[in-house]
Amino acid sequence: MVDAPRQAVTKAVLTVAGLGTRFLPATKATPKEMLPVVDKPAIQYIVEEAVAAGLTDVLFVTGRNKTSLEDHFDRAWELESVLEAKDDEGRLGLVRSAGLGADIHYTRQGDPKGLGHAVLCAERHVGQVPFAVFLGDDLIDPRDPLLATMLDVQARHGGSVVALLQVPREQAHLYGCAAVESTDEEDVVRVTDLVEKPEPADAPSDLAIIGRYVLAPEIFDVLRDTGPGRGGEIQLTDALRTLARSEDHGPVHGVVFRGRRYDTGDKLEYLKAVVRLAVQRDDLGPEFGPWLREFVASMEQEGPVSR
Ligand code: UTP
Repeated sequence: MVDAPRQAVTKAVLTVAGLGTRFLPATKATPKEMLPVVDKPAIQYIVEEAVAAGLTDVLFVTGRNKTSLEDHFDRAWELESVLEAKDDEGRLGLVRSAGLGADIHYTRQGDPKGLGHAVLCAERHVGQVPFAVFLGDDLIDPRDPLLATMLDVQARHGGSVVALLQVPREQAHLYGCAAVESTDEEDVVRVTDLVEKPEPADAPSDLAIIGRYVLAPEIFDVLRDTGPGRGGEIQLTDALRTLARSEDHGPVHGVVFRGRRYDTGDKLEYLKAVVRLAVQRDDLGPEFGPWLREFVASMEQEGPVSR
């Protein structure tokens, strides 16, 4: 039997409804996705990544406190007229280009009952087609594209695709962890099982799930039947586990990511993201890089950092 041609993925779901408790107090009134990474909100990098991968329909799953995010992707008439009056084309371009021409939609999660529940909130908008999910605080360095490979794997194999990162086993409890079988493609594996935030001894591998997914629409049915898991939240990992272990649904593949990735919802990772992206910027790097070297050298002279 010849398989029907697979449908190209055009829809991106960006989950931004979490409370961001790890980044308090900054996230008391400001969504963590709006924290600036150099000079752009973290979420704008993610929209740019989605558009660069050919996804033209963006759905934000939002919650309370996210109006600044909606405003960021809206027109800003007052600001635009001030910049127009000054003939400041450069800044005008920055203000106007946030959404990059993508078709942007919003839905509300209501209660933040977990990532799985946030994805389920996208069902009505997505319908019965495969779609991509981006976690709003997971930043993939624009120099290391990942999603194009995941979309390609999904187009060839169907089913769902997760992004995997090799992590030290003692960090497995921070992630969902995958049991995998190798395939004949480099850095593409078949996922046979998943465990959400395991203790090091229970981790099935050192491959952790990071915040990019290409999902088959069957995930919605599975999510509806998935009860609260770890932390009392409806976990996307638990639903993917059901898909990975079942014969009835398409396969779950994993793409092993070897590039740079930052969890901007974590204070330390956030700082690293700002520094790494700032040093490579043409406008900032030439001054920031040498300053940073000098600063590090002065710290080394001063000895261990005191709190
Ligand atoms: P996190 O696990 O980082 O949770 O969510 P959080 O609540 O956002 O942040 P902390 O841990 O309290 O600091 C991972 C992703 O899932 C989304 C978040 O917005 C983030 O993109 N999420 C999480 C939701 O959209 N809804 C939820 O109910 C939970």
